[in-house]
Amino acid sequence: MTQPERTGKRRAKITGTGMCVPDRVVTNHDLAKLMDTSDEWIRQRSGIVERRFIEPGQMPADLARVASERALDAAGLEASELDCIVLATLSAQAEFPGTSFFLHEALAAETIPCFDLRAQCSGFGYSLGIARSFVESGQFQRVLVVGCEVHSTGIDLSDAGRDVAVLFGDGAGAVVVEANEDDADPSAILEVRLHAEGAHARRLWIEAPGSGFTPVRISHDLIEERRHFPHMEGRFVFKHAVKRMPEVLLETLHAASLKLEDVEIFLFHQANLRINEYVVQQLEIPPERCANNIERYGNCSAASIPILLDEVVRAGRLERGQVIAMTTFGSGFTWSSIVARY
Ligand code: COA
Repeated sequence: MTQPERTGKRRAKITGTGMCVPDRVVTNHDLAKLMDTSDEWIRQRSGIVERRFIEPGQMPADLARVASERALDAAGLEASELDCIVLATLSAQAEFPGTSFFLHEALAAETIPCFDLRAQCSGFGYSLGIARSFVESGQFQRVLVVGCEVHSTGIDLSDAGRDVAVLFGDGAGAVVVEANEDDADPSAILEVRLHAEGAHARRLWIEAPGSGFTPVRISHDLIEERRHFPHMEGRFVFKHAVKRMPEVLLETLHAASLKLEDVEIFLFHQANLRINEYVVQQLEIPPERCANNIERYGNCSAASIPILLDEVVRAGRLERGQVIAMTTFGSGFTWSSIVARY
């Protein structure tokens, strides 16, 4: 029997996972009807074949609710048993209060605290880190962590936005994090490492609506100049992602006194299959130990890792007691890694 790490300390474990993507499939060929792009270009550069977009009227919290209910069901819990909800997003349902409050309403979560966390594509890593601290400190027993994005209503589906628009999709993923005080149970979030480099904030961002860079948050001029759409320096982002993800993964494994060989399955942020192939090659990780789903969903930012985690768990690719490593990179720049014994 594997010995639990950090015996005697209150530990936090993942007890349930869930996901939800909209039914509407948008293929690369569908996008090629809207802008000057091609299935070949998108597949070759990113590995993406299709993504999901919401239907008109569908909201981020609708996706988050289904993902959360599935995670709660897997954990054998009711929403009324939760102590806190942390929801990571960069595409909030409303500028304020965000998305988490609408999820709170949908789950009828009484008066427990909830908040949105903004760390973009690293949002799930940051949120899981915070949930772990909440649980380990004894402040909360059960925390729902959600990553949720609706990109489709905020991307530039014209030629001008093609470099970014082809990469993103909609979806939500959720996990329940609970206290584990049973020394015989090795499941725990073992180590979390979070990083940021604000000097590159403008390399991948949406400028408006915002309170700082423009005299008013939104105006016809801003819209005409397309400053309400995401802008990205793709190659710059790529270079930093392939450097930071291996770096933070190794840092986190070292902190957990584990080696790459101890990890059953690696989940990397789903921004670009080429980024993940490069990272896996650099670290000499056998490709079958790295799960990807970007070909089906595109980049779902904060939702990518929890969606992938749920797929891996439900496919039986990860068993209780095995080690999983989840590593992110995103706008901010932000990057993070979490090593857990599932
Ligand atoms: N379809 C067809 N052509 C496109 C296109 C599209 N959707 N988007 C850009 N192009 C064109 C460009 O205009 C450029 O044309 P030019 O050579 O005539 O100027 C050419 O393709 C190459 O563009 P470039 O941006 O240099 O491509 P790239 O090889 O860097 O690939 C990305 C672009 C976005 C796939 C790649 O940079 C990337 O994945 N970056 C990281 C993205 C990321 O991780 N973002 C999220 C982080 S959380």
